[in-house]
Formats: sequence, C-alpha cells, structure tokens
Amino acid sequence: MTADRQRSGPCPERVAVYPGSFDPITNGHVDIIERGARLFDRIIVAVLVNPDKQPLFSVEERVETAREVFRDEPKVEVDAFEGLLIDFARQCKASVIVRGLRAVSDFEYEFQMALMNRRLAPDIETVFMMPAEAYTYISSRLVREVFTLGGTVQGLVPEEVETRLRRKFARE
Ligand code: PNS
Repeated sequence: MTADRQRSGPCPERVAVYPGSFDPITNGHVDIIERGARLFDRIIVAVLVNPDKQPLFSVEERVETAREVFRDEPKVEVDAFEGLLIDFARQCKASVIVRGLRAVSDFEYEFQMALMNRRLAPDIETVFMMPAEAYTYISSRLVREVFTLGGTVQGLVPEEVETRLRRKFARE
C-alpha cells in the first residue's frame, strides 16, 4: 500500500441527516431510512418544526412515532429541528443530507433545495435515494387526505401511524 493510501487512524463515522415534515411518516420514508441505514454509520431523521404550518400531528407526536417505528434499529436516531437544516446537520456532525426522489415531479423542488444547501454549506453533500417502486406514489399529504375522507391507508404507513390516525379521528 502506498503511503498516501495508508490510514492514519480509525475511519471517521459517516453521519447522514434525513430531514422532512413526516406528517405522518409513511412507508416510503421508512424505505429510504432503511436504505440509508445500510449506507451510513448513523442516520438522523430530522423532523422539521415549522411554525407557519398547521400540521396534523405535533412535532412531539411525529418524533415519538418515528422513534417507535425504529426502536430496534440502533443506527437510526430521531430528533426535531428548527431553523436552517445545514445548521442542524453541522450540530450532528453530518456530512450528508439524504432526500428521497419518487418521480420527476419531485426533482425541481429537490434540485433547488440541494443547490441552496450546497451554497450555504459546500462541505455537506445531498444524496438522493429512490424508494421501492411500490412506494413511489405515496405522500404524507395523500395519506392525510385519504384517511380524513374515510379511506384505508393500510400498507402505506407503519402500524404505529395507523394506530395514531385512528386514535386522532376516534376510529378505533
Ligand atoms: O418533507 P418536506 O416538507 O418536503 O421537507 C422539507 C425540508 C424540511 C427538508 C425543508 O423544508 C427544510 O430543510 N427546511 C429547513 C429550512 C432550511 O434549511 N431552508 C433552506 C434550505 S432549502
């Protein structure tokens, strides 16, 4: 091995943040997090505190739910954040932002965010991951809409979310 390829110490930990509203977390999100957990040493699910939006679930509920879903996955952590994502990523010593890309329609918004984040923090890389095909049409917004209007969301969200939805809408 040449001198420049020799390591001087242990490999640094690769930490990624996976930010979003997660109102609620869907099986599409879960799929991306599981893929991320295979690539990174730690993946931090970062739930946005957005005072401008009226969410269905409070930040505390969203954090709690995601923690329940990943209770047996030590590589996955869940936290709330407010302010700039790159500031939160720095606090976590994350070098990667993970985002899911479902369809071309996601691209423009994601492209703008990735380039803005790169401008603000050139040392933090955005990595896009595709969920399994079965989840490409799922969004939190559609899950909320379908459930609110009386439809089933079984198979689209983790059981923990279904339970909380039923409780919230008194449909036990
Ligand atoms: O699930 P969402 O709602 O598409 O997630 C959007 C999110 C949370 C990734 C985005 O709104 C965000 O990063 N907000 C934090 C504020 C910020 O850093 N803005 C500047 C970068 S675009």
